[in-house]
Amino acid sequence: MTLSSVKSAILSIGISLPSKVLTNKDLEKILNTSDSWITERTGIKTRHILEDQELISTHAIKAAKKALEKANLSPKDLNLIICATFTPDYLMPTLSILVQEGIGALNAGVFDISATCSGFIYGLSIADQFIKNNPNWKILVVGAEALSRKINWKDRSTCILFGDGAGAVVVGKSPSQESGIIDFVLGAIPNNWSLLTLKGGGSCFAPFDERLPKEEYFIKMQGKEVFKIAVKTLEEVTLTLLKRNKITPERIDLLIPHQANLRIIEFLRKKLKLSKEKVYVNIQKYGNTSAASIPIALYEAQKKNKLKKNNLILSVAFGGSFTFGGILIKW
Ligand code: UT7
Repeated sequence: MTLSSVKSAILSIGISLPSKVLTNKDLEKILNTSDSWITERTGIKTRHILEDQELISTHAIKAAKKALEKANLSPKDLNLIICATFTPDYLMPTLSILVQEGIGALNAGVFDISATCSGFIYGLSIADQFIKNNPNWKILVVGAEALSRKINWKDRSTCILFGDGAGAVVVGKSPSQESGIIDFVLGAIPNNWSLLTLKGGGSCFAPFDERLPKEEYFIKMQGKEVFKIAVKTLEEVTLTLLKRNKITPERIDLLIPHQANLRIIEFLRKKLKLSKEKVYVNIQKYGNTSAASIPIALYEAQKKNKLKKNNLILSVAFGGSFTFGGILIKW
């Protein structure tokens, strides 16, 4: 077997969500908003939110333990842990070292990647490359976000969108040559990042720098502009992957898009002429959980028996820093 013929596959999935649920009705009490506006403009009904003292690393660790258990692996079998997040507990230590410690994966190298909502697809693609060169490796890819900590709860146009959560997958050599990760697209659009930012906490401004207004310690977004670029980009990524692999849209068994806005998902579904059954949607329950949204959706889809052997699964994402990604998997 040549190295390039090795395919990687998702061997198992685990998730963990904070138990506290914030409904649109709860938001009506603190903001000038309404359940009907949020539902119509975004599709979101509820989102899971960390309690004051709760950490996202706790959920990343729980999701990782569940994924390992399902794969019948010991933490010591892991060679690498990749955490996709832009809201780790701390800048240092990374989330990945906290997961390594928390599960006892003493033989694993660890690093975080920051690619916002596309982070999980970036992580899977990186894992795929490692498996091609080290077919016996087992890699944990985690998507985990604590967005509630980075939201300006006074900004009704953004705070209603986001939720917290974690998902983890174990990636290894595919048990069959026919199944596994087939192809991926990664990219980013230059000159637009200022439409969606989180400036505070980086090295541009010293902590508590008086030049930086307080709002800059939270996510700021020009939603309408981001929306337009998101729909266009997701369509382009999807069509690139399909064309390159000579696959017509009707051959997709399940589209798992990043869950940012139901209207974005619907736009893509209609462009591809897919039935509702072929597109996984759970934004109504969780809102936008950024890098965690795709592993959470994958987990639920598998639970509902929507990931059947040999199914063609396409997952696409777009997010802050204007990163995008798409991945085609034969299950
Ligand atoms: O994952 C990263 C990628 N993120 C995205 O892809 C998000 C993309 N953007 C969006 O999802 C949408 O643009 C939003 C949901 C953020 C906003 O929806 P929109 O249809 O673009 O609304 P808008 O910003 O154009 O606002 C329309 C109106 C405005 O009022 P006026 O100026 O028409 O009087 C807003 O002030 O809706 C108002 N508005 C609200 N009203 C009630 C904005 N937020 C709210 C709210 N409740 N929460």
